[in-house]
Amino acid sequence: MADALKGLNSLLVHVGEGPDPVSGSVTPPIYQTSTFAFPTNESMADFMNEQKAGYIYTRLGNPNFSVVEAKVAALEGAEKCLLVSSGMAAVATALTALCASGDHLVAHADVYGGTFGLLHDLLPKFGVETSFLDLRDPSTLAAALRPTTRAVYLETPSNPSLRLADIAAIAEIAHRSGVKVIVDNTFATPVNQRPLALGADAVLHSGTKYLNGHSDVVAGLIAGSAEFVLACSDVARKLGGTLNAFDAWLLGRGLKTLGLRMEKQNENGQAVAEYLARHAAIAEVLYPGLPSHPQYALAQRQMTGSGGVLSVRLKGGPAAVDRFLNRVQLFGRAVSLGSVESLITQPVAAVHRFVPPEFQAMGGITPDLVRIAVGIEDIDDLIRDLEQALA
Ligand SMILES: Cc1ncc(COP(=O)(O)O)c(C=O)c1O
Repeated sequence: MADALKGLNSLLVHVGEGPDPVSGSVTPPIYQTSTFAFPTNESMADFMNEQKAGYIYTRLGNPNFSVVEAKVAALEGAEKCLLVSSGMAAVATALTALCASGDHLVAHADVYGGTFGLLHDLLPKFGVETSFLDLRDPSTLAAALRPTTRAVYLETPSNPSLRLADIAAIAEIAHRSGVKVIVDNTFATPVNQRPLALGADAVLHSGTKYLNGHSDVVAGLIAGSAEFVLACSDVARKLGGTLNAFDAWLLGRGLKTLGLRMEKQNENGQAVAEYLARHAAIAEVLYPGLPSHPQYALAQRQMTGSGGVLSVRLKGGPAAVDRFLNRVQLFGRAVSLGSVESLITQPVAAVHRFVPPEFQAMGGITPDLVRIAVGIEDIDDLIRDLEQALA
């Protein structure tokens, strides 16, 4: 039946699952097992020879992983998807599958702090070098490509400065030189943006964020061509960073309401951004849904919704940031984003603390910057809390 479904919410609810053939259970059972038995020795050999579908050992696959992988592949329009133990495991697995010693990467200057650490501190130890570029202007890309460049890596919108990169324009330039484009689609989700349809070769997610949506799971996903995802599966199996059945089951449950949650979070994000843009205590609001965003036209073209994350620069500098963050009551002072509850954080204090100052400057990560991840609460309550905290 799932093959006949087209609508996003129907896909999210039905793809990858149906009543359990053994018990009739409407929700998928949790396959809390490390290993799977075969009826005969020959059938195990058939499985190993890839002549039979199935499962052998949870590090290599589990029915609860398959549910999530099928849903995210359908949503992203990918041939295949792989579930791993975190967003960082997804980034590390994809780049390890793609690169060998001597290879080169180009990355958008403004990326999640953990991703920056992997690219800037860890990969060079294995002979993989990254050039960080401001990809808001795609024309800078061609000159940065080398014969050894394997991929362009970008987040759009980026974390935390909500900068955009033109996926179609970047893919065109990269593909001319045989370079792949990998997009971290965590902030937009496939509800608001579908990078593969715009020309990207692979999409990554921190499933911890909007896809799960309830701040109770850490997970990551890689979606793309069957060939690339199989190469990533091979790496993930060797590195061992796979998920577990219960977290995969929770993620599958969270995914069913992604469309509804994003609708509300797009609405709340827009309303909070518009409110803060008018507030006297705020110097600047960074949100792709505001006409004042320098890349508003690109946002309108490339995204179908602006999401629930925005960043603001406060008048009064770091002291004003401390006051604001200490006064909020409804917003949790916590890192992470994309969950049903609203969260708030100062990027220089935590997520981007270990990004060197010159790269913080390149990414617009200043001490007066506050990142706000709006949840699904009632907008009047959110605005009232911001109002009292900024008063
Ligand atoms: C854009 C982005 N990508 C990747 C990650 C890493 O994800 P995880 O924390 O699930 O490892 C994060 C985490 O905040 C993120 O914001």
